[in-house]
Amino acid sequence: MLAESFQEIINRRRSNRKFDAAIPVPDEVIRRSLERAILSPNSSNMQLWEFYWIKSDAMRKKFVPLCLDQSAAQTAQQLVVFVTRQDLWRKRAAWNLERIKESTAPEPDKWRKKGTDYYGKLMPLLYMNDPFGILTLGRRTLCFVMGLRKPFMRFAGKSDQRITVHKSCALAAQTFMLSIAAEGFESCPMEGFDQIRVKRALNLPSGAEINMIIAVGKGTEKGIWGPRFRVPYEEVVFER
Ligand SMILES: Cc1cc2nc3c(=O)[nH]c(=O)nc-3n(C[C@H](O)[C@H](O)[C@H](O)COP(=O)(O)O)c2cc1C
Repeated sequence: MLAESFQEIINRRRSNRKFDAAIPVPDEVIRRSLERAILSPNSSNMQLWEFYWIKSDAMRKKFVPLCLDQSAAQTAQQLVVFVTRQDLWRKRAAWNLERIKESTAPEPDKWRKKGTDYYGKLMPLLYMNDPFGILTLGRRTLCFVMGLRKPFMRFAGKSDQRITVHKSCALAAQTFMLSIAAEGFESCPMEGFDQIRVKRALNLPSGAEINMIIAVGKGTEKGIWGPRFRVPYEEVVFER
């Protein structure tokens, strides 16, 4: 039963590029979908993401050229920008640390110690950077040496950090889109946008990055550009 409903949602979610101008998307649909998106799995529960719900008509209009005049942006009833915030790692690590302190006994126990080490020591080790790349070099060396004899997580440079935050943010975007489908509406994820201008429009600092922009509305038949082609299962799934 649950699986059937889920299959229905998966089948329903298509990228739709032309939304019906006469059918608005209630704010509650977006709010519920964002609440669900926030429950997505994310690396170390660091939640290095933000979601900018473009609410005003003026701002939505401003976003049309920023999304390269794509029809999904032109006809969107609602627009949400998914943003990565790698730069907030200190704040989020401290936030997690607080939650651990609240939820574990004050006297030192195993979980408190583990959590404190994780967010107090490991996260700074993974996310801290310096202008000369010395920390990256240190992490690369550590990965190399430690990885010689046994499996070791290869996480060293800025690109590893960026990949991690974008992975988590994209999972939130997927939860959001599935939720929109479950609510009876359609969406279109967009990576066709001007990163610099979108950041400027949202007043974001240099450490933030745009993951994707999602247009939402009541989809139309015209908005579906064709059948759903996928490379065959056998070509992409391997059993070992
Ligand atoms: C990260 C990402 C970026 C995308 N960017 C765009 C885009 O800028 N414009 C667009 O029309 N579709 C965009 N798409 C939608 C894809 O083209 C679409 O998901 C794909 O063709 C599969 O079709 P389906 O979503 O209907 O299953 C994007 C999808 C993803 C996941």
